[in-house]
Amino acid sequence: MAVTLLIEHLDQLYTVAGDGPRAGRRQGDIAPVADGAVACDGATIVATGTTAEVRARITLSPQATVVDGRGKSLVPGFVDPHTHVVFAGDRRDELRRRLGGATYSEIAAAGGGILSTVRATRAASDDELAAQTTVRLAEMLRQGTTTAEAKSGYGLDTATEVRMLRVVARLNTTQPIELVPTFIGAHEIPPEFRGRQADYVRLVIDEMIPAAAPHAEWCDVFCDRGFFTPEESTAILEAGARAGMKPRIHADELAASGGPQVAAAVRARSADHLVRVDADGIEALRAGSVIATLLPCAAFHLKLGQFAPARDLIAAEVPVALATDVNPGGGLSPSMPFAIALACFAMHLTFEEALVAATINTAASLDRQHVVGSLEPGKQFDAVLVHGPAVNLLRVNAAPIAGVYKKGVLC
Ligand code: NIG
Ligand code: FE
Repeated sequence: MAVTLLIEHLDQLYTVAGDGPRAGRRQGDIAPVADGAVACDGATIVATGTTAEVRARITLSPQATVVDGRGKSLVPGFVDPHTHVVFAGDRRDELRRRLGGATYSEIAAAGGGILSTVRATRAASDDELAAQTTVRLAEMLRQGTTTAEAKSGYGLDTATEVRMLRVVARLNTTQPIELVPTFIGAHEIPPEFRGRQADYVRLVIDEMIPAAAPHAEWCDVFCDRGFFTPEESTAILEAGARAGMKPRIHADELAASGGPQVAAAVRARSADHLVRVDADGIEALRAGSVIATLLPCAAFHLKLGQFAPARDLIAAEVPVALATDVNPGGGLSPSMPFAIALACFAMHLTFEEALVAATINTAASLDRQHVVGSLEPGKQFDAVLVHGPAVNLLRVNAAPIAGVYKKGVLC
């Protein structure tokens, strides 16, 4: 078989091959291939294994690129399944208030937080939104993210919500990261509906969902104390599903507030945050086959004082995935390696468990496990080249990433 790209003699090749999502003991059951190689035909992987095995199976096309991977490791491109990367404005004044002791909930209750970004996003043109988001996507790509979810949720009116989703579609044609669009009209109550939460939920169901559905693959709700109730969240996610958007949910970030049970009831693919999830919530996720997507960078930057109980989730056979939660509030880090490092050092995962959580399990969280999330023949070649052993990814800020491949192309 003639190939266009061969990377060979890698110190470590982590293929993360096999079905996802992985739970329990399978969450960490991966091992690197020594003297590894990957061969591709254009964007598609055609062979992986040791250099000798791959060399025996392929021929090089005349213009093939051959990369000497000695001194380097290769892992699948990171899939970041929870971002609010599309937004306008700046909340660094809020950051300084939080550093002075104010909490995320206090700032939100006083009209800051998400609502401050809503004001800026409504006022921004599509070009401004796209330009500001492009800068952040480039930061994510440099950190190894090759596929990412992108939410609406800073419009909170039908026109701006749809506009945000159109910007996501446009960004899919202008930069390398593949973006998966999620509608989250129920991210906050907009100021014009203050005190009329039921009316806003009706607007989301009756007007926003039909308008957003052609532009979004997923429907999400911020189900938490001070935001949307389990009953409201269920009604919204069921309406979204009827319109063709698959459900996912923000759950138990600020309080154990029924989100995992909603996730199980509506058969959500993923419940996200789960910092405060309790034993009943974990059991609901397990019984409902819901992926637990954890966002330790948000817990860290919001100073929540605790992280999601990842070990309990793994012990309960709930598949664990990781995301950055890039957003203008507590989502200060565009880095999946930072999420992996916090998963290891704050949530007690092994490196292998965290790598699975950032690749095949996140791909499954976005329903992309047949295309990305592992390095296997037939899948797209999205990969991260690391200086030295792959565990160097844990050396936050030491610039361990040597290169990022998207669809077979070095970005
Ligand atoms: O996932 N929790 C809700 N949404 C975001 C925060 C968005 C914002 O603060 O702008 C999150 O943390
Ligand atoms: Fe979020």
